[in-house]
Amino acid sequence: MLAPSWRIIGKKVYWLSIPDTKSRLFENIWPIPNGVNYNAYLIAGDDEYLLIDSSKAIFTSEELVRVIKEITDPSKIRKIAVLHTEPDHSGLISGILSRIGNPIVYSTSRASFFMRSMFNLETNVVKDGDEITIGNRILRVIELPWIHWPDTMFLYLEDEKILFSSDAFGAFGALEKPVFDDEIDFVKYMHEAKEYFATVVVTYRQMVLRALDKVSRLGINPEIIAPSHGAVLRSRIKEFMKELLSWCNMEKKRKITIIYGTMYGLTEKLAEFAKNIISRKVEVVMHNAVGNDLNHVLSDVLDSAGVLFITPIYEGNIFPPITNLIELMRIKKLGEGKISAVVVTKLWGGAAANKIPILLKDAGYDVLSPVREYVNYPNESDLRDYEDFLQSFIDKVLENF
Ligand SMILES: Cc1cc2nc3c(=O)[nH]c(=O)nc-3n(C[C@H](O)[C@H](O)[C@H](O)COP(=O)(O)O)c2cc1C
Ligand SMILES: [Fe+2]
Ligand SMILES: [Fe+2]
Repeated sequence: MLAPSWRIIGKKVYWLSIPDTKSRLFENIWPIPNGVNYNAYLIAGDDEYLLIDSSKAIFTSEELVRVIKEITDPSKIRKIAVLHTEPDHSGLISGILSRIGNPIVYSTSRASFFMRSMFNLETNVVKDGDEITIGNRILRVIELPWIHWPDTMFLYLEDEKILFSSDAFGAFGALEKPVFDDEIDFVKYMHEAKEYFATVVVTYRQMVLRALDKVSRLGINPEIIAPSHGAVLRSRIKEFMKELLSWCNMEKKRKITIIYGTMYGLTEKLAEFAKNIISRKVEVVMHNAVGNDLNHVLSDVLDSAGVLFITPIYEGNIFPPITNLIELMRIKKLGEGKISAVVVTKLWGGAAANKIPILLKDAGYDVLSPVREYVNYPNESDLRDYEDFLQSFIDKVLENF
């Protein structure tokens, strides 16, 4: 198991890096085989310190305070700022408070309400445009509700041009040690960032766009972005921003994602067949709805122009893992602007073929009709029909591109 550590990221600005290699799932839904990092920050001004956030209770508050002691005497922490109250950043706050004296806790008004109901803790409410001082240093408050909770704020440390961006600009992946964006395999890192966006943030993509716009209208041009998950950005801010904008706008690639379910392998053969046909025209990725990380599936759907669903009928219904994926896409409005097509395999019948287009439309998809139904693996003439169907799907996807 990796251990918490710290690093200086600016003049008297310290990053407390808390790697989580213990949780198998983030929010107990999203698989995190590479773990996740929780980032807290300490800023010193004159002889007082301000702590931004804490961490999920993966380590104890004693363990975190032990790391803080390597930087300063914890009793010098006179202020704590809570950027948003989700327990992956606030989980240790009560324990830390009881170990470092009696600091003032700052939060937005919504967060104040949540802190009271979650931890029975009173906070000092700050509003958009307010300033929190640490000695003679200024942290500017930028209220940005709904990234991805209603209570969020960013803080901007003016003298060092550091933006503390809460869950925006984050990524999955636990860090062995605190690292900047130019000290890692950035391409690999952006996969983790895209998966984090496609699962945790994507529902609130319009709010992220508003946030980026607000930050730029305020004339804030950070030299460092310090998020609550993942690496600290200093050299690749522009590249990250470009990708983030494309994800927020759900920019489509000439790409089709195939999602299939299978119990005994016949439907999988149909998916392989489709993959072959589609790959001649456009990029294609294929996911088995069972056993594949939900993160990979949602991340591939995010920038696909079309999605092909292939499901066997299960006890009269859509194969449940496919239903679950469609429900996640509905919650996250992931079908918006995308074309979908549906193939159903069966032996004796059921309502799946009628139900699945309704669910897909609800998730925002445009659905190619009619749904194709085959009894088990198609015979020769069915296969020709299937090929025509796939061709018309590809044409429609490219038309919509
Ligand atoms: C547990 C189970 C339940 C099934 N329920 C139905 C059903 O309600 N209606 C139907 O037409 N076929 C049903 N089938 C048949 C499958 O949908 C059909 O054989 C399909 O082609 C299997 O694809 P697979 O080999 O990829 O699992 C069921 C099969 C299984 C194993
Ligand atoms: Fe969060
Ligand atoms: Fe978070």
